[in-house]
Amino acid sequence: MTGRLQDKVAIITGGSNGIGRACAERFSAEGAKILIADLLTEPGEAAAAAINDAGGTASFIELEAASPEANHAMAAAAVESYGQIDVVVTAAGVSSAEYTSGDIEGNLKRMAQAAEASAVNPAASITELDIDHWRRVLDVNLTGTLLAIQATAAVMVDQKRPGSIVTIASIAARDPLWGAPSYPVSKAGVWMLTKNASQTLAPLGIRVNSIGPGFIETNMTAAFSEVDEFHNMIIAKTPMGRKGEPSEIASVALFLASEDASYVTGELIHPDGGWFTG
Ligand SMILES: NC(=O)c1ccc[n+]([C@@H]2O[C@H](COP(=O)([O-])OP(=O)(O)OC[C@H]3O[C@@H](n4cnc5c(N)ncnc54)[C@H](O)[C@@H]3O)[C@@H](O)[C@H]2O)c1
Repeated sequence: MTGRLQDKVAIITGGSNGIGRACAERFSAEGAKILIADLLTEPGEAAAAAINDAGGTASFIELEAASPEANHAMAAAAVESYGQIDVVVTAAGVSSAEYTSGDIEGNLKRMAQAAEASAVNPAASITELDIDHWRRVLDVNLTGTLLAIQATAAVMVDQKRPGSIVTIASIAARDPLWGAPSYPVSKAGVWMLTKNASQTLAPLGIRVNSIGPGFIETNMTAAFSEVDEFHNMIIAKTPMGRKGEPSEIASVALFLASEDASYVTGELIHPDGGWFTG
């Protein structure tokens, strides 16, 4: 342990898998007590148990990110278990309305369906976009981030404690990538929400920053790696020539969460292997 988050309490939404789980593990190694909040219970409880087995302190609570009540219950659970909230990472997210973390077959099927639809109608990702699908992606990624900020910042303000909130956007906040607009629009929204919240909360001692990862090896991108066309396109557009590891995002989250970033707020940092150098 190096203790950069010693005695801090961190909530990690989306902490059952991927980037969120890596943040939970790294923050625990730095001394924080962890509340993992996620839709998926089994991997979330396993993630908390692994942290406890390694000598840390972690618990799990089920969270539907798009529910105001669930976000308030999450904040209340952190206070009940650990007395305070110091750090929040909002990593809960979906790449499409039907996305379930770990269902790689389902993701592959949806990619094939989208490719087929755009071969028939090149405008399909706009003109045939199902409005309920659009809403679900916005509800989870954007409204879910707002709800987590609302619930946790309210506790920090009440307790008159400084805090650090780290949202997870994407390179898609600035690059429309390809396919349906829902995901990039949700992430552009997360970026603007982060800037807005950072202005409001800065005088209260709460910093709010965002991370915009490039392509990272998680369940969310596993299907891309199975399809040569996508995989090669991603690697060709990434000057470092590889996808990133979740731990490489957790390092940036740790910087933003810790006192090392004491004068940093309203920023969007891209750990992306150089995606935006072109
Ligand atoms: N992997 C990448 O390349 C990449 C790149 C840029 C941004 N991101 C973002 O990083 C974040 C984490 O994604 P990941 O790559 O680790 O994928 P992941 O699937 O491994 O993790 C996402 C987690 O969010 C949870 N989740 C999904 N919907 C939820 C909901 N409604 N309520 C609560 N929890 C929910 C999932 O159960 C899962 O544990 C997401 O916001 C994603 O958009 C990922």
